[in-house]
Amino acid sequence: EQSLKGRDVLSWMDFASEDIEKLLESARQLKEKQKQGLPHQTLNGRSLGMIFENASTRTRVSFEVGMTQLGGHALFLSSADLQIGRGEPVEDTARALSRYLDAIMIRANDHDMVATLAEKSDIPVINALTDDDHPCQALADMLTIQEHLGSLKGRKVVYVGDGNNVAHSLMVIAAKLGVDITLSTPVGYEGAPGVWEKAKAFAAETGSNVEHVIDPHEAVKNADIVYTDVWVSMGAEEEKDTRNRAMEPYQVDKAMMAQANDEAIFMHCLPAHRGEEVSAEVIDGPQSVVFDQAENRLHVQKAILQAVVR
Ligand code: CP
Ligand code: NVA
Repeated sequence: EQSLKGRDVLSWMDFASEDIEKLLESARQLKEKQKQGLPHQTLNGRSLGMIFENASTRTRVSFEVGMTQLGGHALFLSSADLQIGRGEPVEDTARALSRYLDAIMIRANDHDMVATLAEKSDIPVINALTDDDHPCQALADMLTIQEHLGSLKGRKVVYVGDGNNVAHSLMVIAAKLGVDITLSTPVGYEGAPGVWEKAKAFAAETGSNVEHVIDPHEAVKNADIVYTDVWVSMGAEEEKDTRNRAMEPYQVDKAMMAQANDEAIFMHCLPAHRGEEVSAEVIDGPQSVVFDQAENRLHVQKAILQAVVR
């Protein structure tokens, strides 16, 4: 059996379905232990560096608390206060940090920069959101779906709005785990062609279905999960007006939820903008599981850390 020790977690594209399933199982066990107050300090004395180029509430707090619960320590490193913020090559940062830390977590705009950091580091690098991907979020989302709906295979997720980083990761993980996924976005916001290609290839292996439907009301029919995210991601602020106009018909409101399955759940990675991508009624209503998703970030990230840190 192959261990995940030393592996980078940049995207689920690089992982076997079985490894993702094992991480989910480990996250369930860690959650149970934490709820019961049972010891699980498997990373005693280890240190995680957390580099942030952008704002964060959930990611920062859940990684830091997660490391503490595992017996280790986490350092918050704002990139503005690091030498990379003054032009030090990311390669040198990677080599220097590898001499102190046991793992790096990074939130940055440029996915390629994160890939370079990972390549030049001797320690695991975990992607905590780039312009391309948000793997930790997607894993937490799968755990949340399992908890609420009992199973993953054959379930249908309909993601409505902007084909962004969160949508990419969701497509990839869904295809890997045999979950059907439909993206409903305006033309021009479908997401990266390369991600579509990969997701379709994974789906062919697991028997899931990956598709794009322009009309959101059509798309949400038979949905077990309706998912949305902000229309303006970090770094896209100057496109705000155009994006809001293009995505207006994609607001998840009560009428849209009524077209999904009766038992459908509503998901959002947060932070949310009520009255834009989702109505207050839906996100604060009985079908919403958004704070379970937020909580599950903690448990899945502990599972990732425990698996990859030596
Ligand atoms: N969902 C998510 O990553 O939240 P933060 O930006 O608050 O970390
Ligand atoms: N798509 C959003 C997710 C935030 C967690 C962004 O990139 O800003």
